Amino acid sequence: MSKDVYRSPKKRGKIAVFLSGRGSNFVAIHDEIRAGKINADIGLVFSNKQEALGLKIAQECNLQTLSLNPKDFTSREDYDRKIVEEIKKRDIDLICLAGYMRILTPLFCEAFRNKIINIHPALLPSFPGLHVQQKAIDWGVRYSGATVHFVTPEVDMGPIITQAIVPVLQDDTEDTLSERILKEEHKIYSEAVRLYFEGMLEVRDRRVFIL
Ligand code: GAR
Repeated sequence: MSKDVYRSPKKRGKIAVFLSGRGSNFVAIHDEIRAGKINADIGLVFSNKQEALGLKIAQECNLQTLSLNPKDFTSREDYDRKIVEEIKKRDIDLICLAGYMRILTPLFCEAFRNKIINIHPALLPSFPGLHVQQKAIDWGVRYSGATVHFVTPEVDMGPIITQAIVPVLQDDTEDTLSERILKEEHKIYSEAVRLYFEGMLEVRDRRVFIL
C-alpha cells in the first residue's frame, strides 16, 4: 500500500502566525528568527481578536498584521475563505497557530495541508480541547507537557512533530502548571519551526520523522 508522504521544504520561509491572546509563543518564535536560528520571516500576524495583546506586540515590531471580526461574516466557512485569500496573497509557506482560539474549518485545513502547525499545552492525544492544564491536574496524571503537531480537520489530532514532558506537582494550580508548560512550549515550538524550514520533517501518514 503506498504511503502518503510529505517532506517540509528547505528554504527561507514565510510564516503567518495566528493568535487570539497574549502572544508569548509568537514572541518566542520571533526572537529565534531575529537571533538567526530559524530560516524564516514572519509575513503576517493574524488575529480573530482586534484587542489581542500579541497583535499589538506585532505592530510594535513593525510586522504586518491583520484582524478580522468573525461577526462581520455570515458563516465560519466565509470567514475562513477570506483568510485563505489573505494568506495566498502573501505567499505564506507555513501557518503557526499560537494560541489561536478558534476552530479551523475543514475548508481551511485542506487549503494548507501540511502547512499549518499548532502548539497545545498537553501531551496529545491526552487532553485535547480547552483548560487542559486543569484537566491534567484533576485526572491526577504525574506528567503533562506540550505538543507541536500538524493541523488536520480533526481538532488537536494531527501528526505530532515534537513534545516536551512537564511533571505535575502535588501542589500545582492551573496557573503554576501552565507557567511551567509555557516555558517548554516556547522551546519546542521554535525548534519545530526551525526543523520545518531545514527540510527535516517528513510526514508519513500520521507519523512525523525528523530526518
Ligand atoms: C498556550 O499555552 C498555547 O499552548 C495554548 O494557548 C496558550 C497561548 O499562549 N493553545 C491552546 O490551548 C490551543 N488549543 P500565548 O498567547 O502566550 O502564546
